[in-house]
Amino acid sequence: MTAFQEAGPRAGKVALITGGANGIGAAVARRLAGEGVRVVLADVDEDGGRKVADEVDGEFVLCDVREPGDSARAVQTAVDRFGGLDLAFLNAGVASGFGLGDDFDPDRYRRAMSINVDGVVYGVHAVLPALRARGGGDIVATASMAALTSTPFDPVYGANKAAVVGLVRALGPAHQPEGIRVNALCPSFAETDIIGPIRSELERTGFPILPVSHVVDAFMAILDADGAGDAWYVVPGRPSEPFRFRGVPGPR
Ligand SMILES: NC(=O)c1ccc[n+]([C@@H]2O[C@H](COP(=O)([O-])OP(=O)(O)OC[C@H]3O[C@@H](n4cnc5c(N)ncnc54)[C@H](O)[C@@H]3O)[C@@H](O)[C@H]2O)c1
Repeated sequence: MTAFQEAGPRAGKVALITGGANGIGAAVARRLAGEGVRVVLADVDEDGGRKVADEVDGEFVLCDVREPGDSARAVQTAVDRFGGLDLAFLNAGVASGFGLGDDFDPDRYRRAMSINVDGVVYGVHAVLPALRARGGGDIVATASMAALTSTPFDPVYGANKAAVVGLVRALGPAHQPEGIRVNALCPSFAETDIIGPIRSELERTGFPILPVSHVVDAFMAILDADGAGDAWYVVPGRPSEPFRFRGVPGPR
């Protein structure tokens, strides 16, 4: 039996998920497929991606989000296989785990910025025409609580995730008039492979780790809401909602 089961309000829609081979992306794929959404998984992890695609009766496309042509090919796969695109979850991302001192490495820096920021920029650029062709749709980019707090343990991650939130806050009002909602998902630490290097520190300090299902719940809440340009926090023990930024002082 596959996860593609019953008709729900989203049944028949088509979703593209970058970073869909593992963790949060794979869990969102399973939840969406359970609601009758057709899913395209785009990832550099071919084995993992094909496994999830089989499970959800979806499609896998090898895609490095640093390459604009790969994002375009992923969108084309959705159109060719399922007839269009209604939802893009731009979720591929990596942690960095180095500072700007002796451990700084420009190549690792460029890689992290490229996956976490360029990947979202190229993804949005690639999906917009397909969403317009359907009369609108949703883009959800995975940022992080690292975008909304200070991350001294990973400053490059803090910078690239803040860039994603800045991008989404700008794109929200830009595309809402054409029926395309752009929002950001900002999880705290969640139970996936990405937290491997800091797991023991989190456990030592007793910092609660989110079950991935809570992150998926927040993702679905974004789809069910009607705002755009919002950054939804996902924090243990609290219902998720858009973070309310303080107004900045304007000119007098
Ligand atoms: N788990 C957490 O604690 C947490 C917290 C906040 C934000 N996030 C963000 O959530 C997103 C998903 O991460 P996760 O926690 O599921 O981790 P994960 O490592 O399980 O999944 C990340 C996925 O991205 C894919 N990926 C990496 N580089 C890629 C590339 N160049 N092109 C395409 N795919 C690529 C990986 O193969 C993997 O499938 C990331 O953007 C991450 O920064 C995670």
